[in-house]
Amino acid sequence: MNILITGGAGFIGSHVVRRFVTRYKEYHIFNLDALTYAGNLENLKDVEKAPNYTFLKGNILDENFIKSIFAKYNFDGVIHLAAESHVDRSITDPLAFVKTNVIGTVNLLNVSLDTWKGNLEHKRFYHISTDEVYGALGAEGFFTEVTPYDPNSPYSASKASSDHFIRAYGETYQFPYVITNCSNNYGPNHFPEKLIPLFINNIINNKPLPVYGDGNYTRDWLFVEDHAIAIDLVFHKGKNHETYNIGGFNEWKNIDLVKLLCRLMDKKLNRKEGSSEKLITYVKDRPGHDLRYAIDATKINKELGWEPSVTFEEGLDKTIDWYLNNKEWLNNVTSGEYQKYYESQYN
Ligand code: NAD
Ligand code: TYD
Repeated sequence: MNILITGGAGFIGSHVVRRFVTRYKEYHIFNLDALTYAGNLENLKDVEKAPNYTFLKGNILDENFIKSIFAKYNFDGVIHLAAESHVDRSITDPLAFVKTNVIGTVNLLNVSLDTWKGNLEHKRFYHISTDEVYGALGAEGFFTEVTPYDPNSPYSASKASSDHFIRAYGETYQFPYVITNCSNNYGPNHFPEKLIPLFINNIINNKPLPVYGDGNYTRDWLFVEDHAIAIDLVFHKGKNHETYNIGGFNEWKNIDLVKLLCRLMDKKLNRKEGSSEKLITYVKDRPGHDLRYAIDATKINKELGWEPSVTFEEGLDKTIDWYLNNKEWLNNVTSGEYQKYYESQYN
């Protein structure tokens, strides 16, 4: 099988590429990535020379380029992760999210459909989406696969839109798709604009920890390698035209999570208990901030036997160790452009 993974140089994509390259030596994995600020080939140093791996630098918005690689490599399946992924950036530049997440996805759909027509039953297009398309929960309840879409941020609206196009291609052209909607991931290689890696980096550097609003927002956290395991399972065993929710059964209020992180980091850095907590600074809230996300992952558990393999304690421990042991990675991604982003977002 020739498999195209888009966005493979990003956070989740790099874990998926590594898993497929090392686990399926008989497949050839093509990683298509535009290497935006979030894409980083350092994430894949350990597999870059594998004989069943090829990196293709390109943009999913470039129709001619996409056509040329489909013509050349005759892909059997696509696992589509390339996206603009940060809610705060979507608030300042919504159009970038429409372009990559909506138009880029439709571009991929068109080229896949055109190349695969006449042979659709042997193909699979797997779209990686988010639980944020369902909007915000109150204190009670969970998102299931039939929860109506109700996106609140430009990011989640763009992901919802791409999910709708995929379903529509399924209905209209019998296009062979599967979609998963996953909760918040964390783990190694996470770009330090998102809560957990940003706060780890700031604790290391004794910088303020900017908690939005009152900190009483809740997210359901999943270790990234458990997401990669779920993606492997759904790609191979998921049913055509189905969607599956993936979650960590692991809800945390931001402020509780931040305090836990502070305690763990104090220990790792041999700092006096309570010193990192002093860095917590409440800042202006995110506009349209969703109160709570929580996934009901019963379907993927019952039908495909998936469940998280790593506890939150183990996952956080591995994550913190990774950042402490990979200071060069952290320094590289936080120099240059990152400084400008940080100043405009937090000052
Ligand atoms: P990320 O921002 O770390 O990586 C995105 C990757 O896509 C980068 O390598 C980037 O260079 C590439 N990319 C961006 N625009 C591109 C374009 N126009 N053409 C080609 N490549 C492009 O994102 P992530 O956190 O790894 O998320 C991956 C996918 O998973 C996204 O679709 C996201 O919506 C989804 N998702 C993320 C989470 C999460 O918690 N991070 C949760 C659920 C779903
Ligand atoms: P984030 O990691 O951006 O993921 P998402 O918005 O996709 O859930 O944010 C997780 C939570 O942390 C969210 O409620 C916003 C909050 N947050 C802060 O309080 N401060 C920050 O600096 C960031 C980046 C996020």
